[in-house]
Amino acid sequence: KILILDFGSQVTQLIARRIREAHVFCEVHPCDVSDEWIRDYARDGSLKGIILSGSHASIYEETTDKAPQVVFELGLPVLGICYGMQAMAHQLGGVVTSGHQREFGHADVRAHGHTALLSGIQDYRTPMGHGMLQVWMSHGDKVTELPPGFKLMASTDSCPIAGMADEERRFYAVQFHPEVTHTKRGAAILERFVLDICGTRADWIMGDYISEAVEKIRAQVGDEEVILGLSGGVDSSVAAALIHRAIGDQLTCVFVDHGLLRLNEGDMVMDMFVGKLHAKVVRVDAADQFLGHLAGVSEPEAKRKIIGREFVEVFKAQALALKASDASKKGAKWLAQGTIYPDVIESGGAKNKKAVVIKSHHNVGGLPEQLGLKLLEPLRELFKDEVRELGVALGLPYNMVYRHPFPGPGLGVRILGEVKKEYADLLRRADAIFIEELHNFVDEATGKTWYQLTSQAFTVFLPVKSVGVMGDGRTYDYVVALRAVQTSDFMTADWAELPYALLKKVSSRIINEVRGINRVTYDVSSKPPATIEWE
Ligand code: XMP
Repeated sequence: KILILDFGSQVTQLIARRIREAHVFCEVHPCDVSDEWIRDYARDGSLKGIILSGSHASIYEETTDKAPQVVFELGLPVLGICYGMQAMAHQLGGVVTSGHQREFGHADVRAHGHTALLSGIQDYRTPMGHGMLQVWMSHGDKVTELPPGFKLMASTDSCPIAGMADEERRFYAVQFHPEVTHTKRGAAILERFVLDICGTRADWIMGDYISEAVEKIRAQVGDEEVILGLSGGVDSSVAAALIHRAIGDQLTCVFVDHGLLRLNEGDMVMDMFVGKLHAKVVRVDAADQFLGHLAGVSEPEAKRKIIGREFVEVFKAQALALKASDASKKGAKWLAQGTIYPDVIESGGAKNKKAVVIKSHHNVGGLPEQLGLKLLEPLRELFKDEVRELGVALGLPYNMVYRHPFPGPGLGVRILGEVKKEYADLLRRADAIFIEELHNFVDEATGKTWYQLTSQAFTVFLPVKSVGVMGDGRTYDYVVALRAVQTSDFMTADWAELPYALLKKVSSRIINEVRGINRVTYDVSSKPPATIEWE
């Protein structure tokens, strides 16, 4: 295994991710672990190398962290990245100088001296025959004098010591960031370090993650009880499946049906978690309560606030009840959440894993404190695509794990204006038809379904009536709009150029099968200026 010591850089988890992609097991721990902790961690001989991450701090600031000195005394290979390089230089007798200027962005680095880390890895050669790497830099300070025993490994015009190595001790360091994809051969460099220099085996797979995570959860939770808010979304579902794998009936999931879910969603969640996984799930049917509070309210933000507030109320009541009386009569002690790494970054809370993020759409910030529960977040080191991979490895159905995102307020923001049960029922049926046909239509060029080719697709209910004709009669019914977008980050989005044949099929099915809707439109607005949701 590889140990990554985290000095608080936003991209530390990317180091872990790149190493996982090389099929090597690694763990991220805060840089201030003690020497004894590290010795203990290395005791069974499975630790093969250590990586020191970047940071935003300067090594000469009083408050900043040094690497535990034992890192350099175990006889293991060490790779310092950015701040990690400066810490290594500083602690081994080199000199680090505060830069007056921050260097940030692309840089071309020249490799020197055929080191085991960089030799043969290059993007191009100069006419003089020097091997060059295109890398990403982000630093203010720099190493200006090599520590004893080190030789120059890489340089740029503005950073004469951009890499250094003591090959005898197998200490390597780079000023640039091999973990970000802007450093083109970065993955190759990290792979070279963990596989060739540290001598790890590339035999770790997502399946192994499960047993490791299961052990960790068991160690953390012991025989205490855990509560988890299950929404049916990817993150909470995978978290639930993983925790259930670890502690079985010590986990109770609370699934709040606010009446604004997709067609049969509640039953599907119960089938999966209770029927197949045999997990304990409390299903709370709170539709009347939510719809009651939403009656007469049409302003979008007001609707969102009501849904968020009611969600917290309902969940809190359930959690408190479980806290008071669970099967073992000891009371639940933990609140589990499907927080994933991008949520952690968003909160700016990567450093030393102290920050707590709760998906803001459910507005449950502060809930663990209010409930007096400890927080369990087994996915907080994983990226979304890794969470999906884990979900599949845990046996969750592909369709559940690769679902489009669904907003917390659900159909509440897809029924324009006042929310009524009648509208929600019509919308649910129309939307199910749209989604079904997106799964049915395959694009010949790519072999993918249109559901896979779109990032998010749904139906919007417009509470206006228009005139139509059906058979011999006149109709006067509601309108829906289909929305389908393609995006990589949901910050900007293009409307999807769905095939006419697909639109035609969806339109005729909705109008024929959902009595009460007689007109279907397609939304051809990009974001910006339009948003993805209509409210
Ligand atoms: P917009 O409409 O802002 O949506 O372009 C961007 C993405 O965010 C989702 N979204 C929400 N998700 N609670 C959520 O959990 C919300 O209140 C909310 N509003 C928008 C939306 O579905 C899209 O994926």
